[in-house]
Amino acid sequence: MKRLLIYSGLLFAMGVILTGCYKDLNIPPTVINPDGPPQVVNYGTDLAPLFNTSCAKSGCHVSGGHHPFMNSDISYNEIVNGGFVNTLVPKESILYIMINSDMKEYIPSATDRQKVYDWIRNGAPNN
Ligand code: HEM
Repeated sequence: MKRLLIYSGLLFAMGVILTGCYKDLNIPPTVINPDGPPQVVNYGTDLAPLFNTSCAKSGCHVSGGHHPFMNSDISYNEIVNGGFVNTLVPKESILYIMINSDMKEYIPSATDRQKVYDWIRNGAPNN
């Protein structure tokens, strides 16, 4: 009986010590500088499908709707030749301004908007 008491006491003490050691590590969220070095963005695999799904909806950015038409096969030419990007002053791009204002609800992910911005900063390549 005495031994049982000693063991359970030891167990209890170990439990207290272990839980006492446990601490919530408060890791601050990683703050990404949007104007930091641009990531590599591939228009064909990263942006064309995104624009096709989110923008080329009926009555929106398709024939009969509003330019730029955003179907995958024509969106690059529509955006670049339509003057919706300014690679010299990327933040003055109509595309950049619209995805951060009137069209933001159609591209809710900050990661996706950053990809668009970085693609423009990379010179809007047809890659
Ligand atoms: C992420 C997806 C989208 C992108 C990147 C986008 C981009 C744009 C851009 C660049 C313009 C400016 C056109 C100009 O100045 O001539 C614009 C205008 C417009 N878009 Fe979108 N758009 C998106 C989704 C949509 C959707 C889903 C709709 C329909 C529900 C829509 C409806 C319109 C309308 C009505 C305008 C003209 C009125 C305005 O200037 O606010 N867009 N969009």
